[in-house]
Amino acid sequence: MKTWIHTHWRAILLNTLGLAALLAVTRLPRASQFSGVSEPMVAAGIWAARFLLITLAITPLNTVFGWRSLLRLRRTAGLWTFAFAALHFGYYVWDSKASWLQTPIPNTAAAIGLAALLILTALAVTSTNAAQRRMGKWWTRLHKLVYAAGVLGLVHGLLETGNKFVAMNQPESANEIWLYLGLLAALLAVRIPPLRRYMAGLRHRRTPAAPAAGEVA
Ligand code: HEM
Repeated sequence: MKTWIHTHWRAILLNTLGLAALLAVTRLPRASQFSGVSEPMVAAGIWAARFLLITLAITPLNTVFGWRSLLRLRRTAGLWTFAFAALHFGYYVWDSKASWLQTPIPNTAAAIGLAALLILTALAVTSTNAAQRRMGKWWTRLHKLVYAAGVLGLVHGLLETGNKFVAMNQPESANEIWLYLGLLAALLAVRIPPLRRYMAGLRHRRTPAAPAAGEVA
C-alpha cells in the first residue's frame, strides 16, 4: 500500500483536484442564468482552461526540471480538460433549450469555443493505448492539436468575458484568463527548439553526470 501511494501520489493529487473541482462546480446555483449562461456553466469553462494549462505544462516541466514521472499524467489531465469542457457545453445547451438548436453558433466567440471542443473531443476519443497503436504517426500528428485547443479555448474564454452574465457575475475572470494567456505563451515558447535546447542545457548544468569510478567528484 505504502509503495503504491509512493508511486501514484501525483495521479492521486491530480484526480483529487479534478473531483473536488467537479463537486464545487456542480454545487453552484444554476437558477440565475442568462440565455444558458449560468455560474456552474462559466465555472466549468474556467476549470477546462485550468486543466488545459496543466496538460500543456507537463512536457515543459520535464524539459526544464527533468520531472519525467509527470509525463504519465498527460492523458489524465487531458481527460479532465475534456470532461470540464463537455460539462460547460452541456450546461449551456441544456439551459438554452431549443434556442441553441435554432442558433448553434451565435457569434465568433462561440465558433472558436466549438472548434476547441471538437479538438478536445477528437483527442479524448483517441486517447487509448489501442488508438495510439492503430494510428501510428497520425496519432502524434493529431495530438499536436492540443496546442491549437489551448489557444482557441483561452481566446474564446477571453472573448466571452464580455458576455453580459460573465461581466456582471464573474468580472474577475477576465484577469484570470489574461494570466492564463501569458502562461500559455510561456509554455509554447519553451517548445521552440533553440529555447528548449537552452532550457534542457541549464538542467544538465544543474545536475552534472555522476563521476565515473575512481574519478574525484
Ligand atoms: C477550453 C476551454 C473552453 C471550451 C472548450 C469552451 C467551449 C464552449 C462551447 C463549445 C460553447 C458553446 C458555443 C455555442 O455553440 O454557441 C461555449 C460557450 C460559452 N463559453 Fe466556453 N469554452 C471554454 C472556456 C470558457 C471560459 C474560460 C469561459 C469564461 C470566461 C467561457 C464562457 C462561455 C460563454 C459565456 C459561452 C456562451 C456563449 C454565448 O452565449 O455566446 N468558456 N464554450
